[in-house]
Amino acid sequence: MQWKLSLLNENGFRKVFLFFQNLKDMDWGLKNRLSSIIKPQNNRALMLAVDHGYFLGPTEKLENPQKVIGPLLKYCDSLMVTRGVQRTSVSPNTSTPMVLRVSGGSSIIGDDLSQEDITVSIEDAIRLNASALAMSIFVGSKYEYQTVVNLGKLVNEATKYGIPVLAVTAVGKELGKDARYLSLACRMAAEQGANIVKTYYCENFEKVVQSCPVPIIVAGGKKIPERDALQLTYNSIKAGAVGVDIGRNVWQSEHPVAMIRAVRAIVHENSNVDQAFKLYNKLASEESKRKSNKPNQNKSNKPNQNKSNKPNQNKSNKPNQNKSNKPNQNKSNKPNQNKSNKPNQNKSNKPNQNKSNKPNTPKPTPAKK
Ligand code: R5P
Repeated sequence: MQWKLSLLNENGFRKVFLFFQNLKDMDWGLKNRLSSIIKPQNNRALMLAVDHGYFLGPTEKLENPQKVIGPLLKYCDSLMVTRGVQRTSVSPNTSTPMVLRVSGGSSIIGDDLSQEDITVSIEDAIRLNASALAMSIFVGSKYEYQTVVNLGKLVNEATKYGIPVLAVTAVGKELGKDARYLSLACRMAAEQGANIVKTYYCENFEKVVQSCPVPIIVAGGKKIPERDALQLTYNSIKAGAVGVDIGRNVWQSEHPVAMIRAVRAIVHENSNVDQAFKLYNKLASEESKRKSNKPNQNKSNKPNQNKSNKPNQNKSNKPNQNKSNKPNQNKSNKPNQNKSNKPNQNKSNKPNQNKSNKPNTPKPTPAKK
């Protein structure tokens, strides 16, 4: 009996020990996952957002996610993605961390975009080796309660496994996009336990950052001219964001790789807007030259090698119909006329006013953990 009791005690002790050991390990896992998203060297993050299809369907220029993601993956620190696109369009050989969107349920043509629920189980997120889970909250909307409670539930689940949660403060037609509203939404997300909050840039963005106890990452928003998007990136970091979670302003650009590299120069190399835009133009023109120098590899231009000497009936002899050679008809490249999407033009908020073109070296933002 005595022996049995001591065994039980030992097991009990072991259980408690393992529980705390696990907690410690989970803490390590959470920290480790977070550090793959926000780089500890400089507390900066460059996330590429490609999750738009979850409510927008085949968004312009993201019709083929695999083609879009492939060349960009090595330039971002992490990829924000849905499970469907991750499984079908991202190579499992990548070492880029995945920020998995786990909410959804409504479409752009449905009744109410704010009616979202959690759609991915924690088991599936673990199977997909998610480095963080992302979901939207719709503060001030009809479904505010549902989405905020869901955030709390997601944090409960994710924390068990050491997976960080990124809360997206969604904005809509009827929802505000000013510092007052965004401070409220970001703070609520952090209070529910989100480890990172993604939100939109606005005037007086410093206020939003200062009142949010966890790191803030800024969404790119609708396509705007490249220089404006770089300015937005610069302004966001200067105001205290850890970086940008940018989508359309990269892959709807005429030169996505040049654009993500220019954004990266601001996020990770402390470039100012002039320097980054110069880099964009240089890379874009190099890319254009490469394309125009490339001999047309369309087999249709090869001399007919049909040994039979019969006239080649292969349709591929039609002139190259590769759409990529057509002039860009993308309306999104027109300068954005939506004033609300224009980066802050308040001169007092413009960061780089240094006309000398000297590299701007803003002090790294201290980590919020
Ligand atoms: C919106 O909630 C989507 O999740 C996108 O990830 C987000 O809007 C960032 O992409 P973009 O830079 O295109 O706005």
